[in-house]
Amino acid sequence: MKKELNDIELRDKKHLWHPLIQHKLKPNSLAIERAENCILYDFEGKQYIDGIASWYTCMYGHCNPYIIKKVQEQMTKLDQIVFSGFTHRPAVELSEALIEILPKGQNRIFFSDNGSTSVDIAIKMSLQYFHNKGVNKNKVICFEDAFHGDTFGAMSVSGLSVYNGAFEQYLLTVERIDVPTEKNKEQVLSKFVELIKKEDICSFIYEPLVQGAAAMKMHKASLLDELLKIAKEHGVICIADEVMTGFGKTGTNFASDHIETKPDIICLSKSLTAGLVPMAITSCSEEIYLAFYDDQIKKGFFHGHTYSANPIACTAALSAIELLKTKEIQDNIKFINKSHNLFLEKLKGNNKVKNLRCIGVIMAFELNMEMDRYGNIRDRLFNFFMDRGVFIRPLGNTLYLLPPFTISEKQLAKLYDTLTLCIQEFV
Ligand SMILES: Cc1ncc(COP(=O)(O)O)c(C=O)c1O
Repeated sequence: MKKELNDIELRDKKHLWHPLIQHKLKPNSLAIERAENCILYDFEGKQYIDGIASWYTCMYGHCNPYIIKKVQEQMTKLDQIVFSGFTHRPAVELSEALIEILPKGQNRIFFSDNGSTSVDIAIKMSLQYFHNKGVNKNKVICFEDAFHGDTFGAMSVSGLSVYNGAFEQYLLTVERIDVPTEKNKEQVLSKFVELIKKEDICSFIYEPLVQGAAAMKMHKASLLDELLKIAKEHGVICIADEVMTGFGKTGTNFASDHIETKPDIICLSKSLTAGLVPMAITSCSEEIYLAFYDDQIKKGFFHGHTYSANPIACTAALSAIELLKTKEIQDNIKFINKSHNLFLEKLKGNNKVKNLRCIGVIMAFELNMEMDRYGNIRDRLFNFFMDRGVFIRPLGNTLYLLPPFTISEKQLAKLYDTLTLCIQEFV
């Protein structure tokens, strides 16, 4: 990493407080001046390939010209309007476009601002669904190691870690189960049934197929499906958190498309707006919606945000869906998947790496060495890649790629070459 800080980096230190950082241990942040498609440029003109699409948001490349053009047009027409009592074309068109591609059964779109909030909304919907019906069900089942965000509901259903440990006593009551594998399947299924039989479970929340923050852990669709079938049989609301997996990243539009049993509620954010502006959505089935549709005001869902369904964000999302549906993007998704698999094929049998895995454009593996997830080795890995013009965020000893759909063959090759070099140097 470079030694001298530039003007922006120095001024940053005076007033800014960055997320997910212990500032005493990591006092400096790298200033990025601009970004174009898959490349980030720092103030000294150094280029970095964005190997994780800036936390899985800019999947159509940074500053995508098509999306920008659409957003610019919208900006001159309608910038913002209260979404309680008013509506507008971008929100209506987005709801129609989403319902067309969302897994079967989704019929209502509720807007908010970020992934964590979309999860809190999903949990509140599941709690109030039963409350409105006069049934006392107040517990959520979630996975160990899950990450659903940093607001209180989302923290409650996440695995305990540095993110939420300090707030444990203030969190909602949840039941945590292991992610099912071929090995532990029987225990997990029987614990799940046992919990559900207690009759106080309102919902089950899961990151379908890939647990992102748990270092891109992947599980089998068929095993998750067994849990979902049991949940459905017992009237437990199934909440798919597709904040990370949504919109093409697993090769299908949504990870839930790989799974037979469909969710009742889905959380969406990140690449929803292609990284241009923040927005989130919690979609649900008509059955959930109807539990709130009543002559009594108090049965309504009294949750709202000032920027709900901001017209500019809706336009960005609508344009992103248009791009997702194009042959070009669909072909790119297949190409990236094929390239990832070819790369992993070459790593097979190499004892310096383990747990090679890939779905859609998400590829991950572990370096075969013991590392403390929050220790300095992670920073050394990060710096190794940044020094070579590659931006990825190693999670402990896990290295993973989740590049924009628009990445070129040459850029992908550079990512793989740098990973190969890293394996040779670090293990
Ligand atoms: C699966 C999942 N859910 C929720 C969130 C929280 O989203 P946000 O950071 O927008 O609050 C994340 C963020 O990484 C996530 O990966």
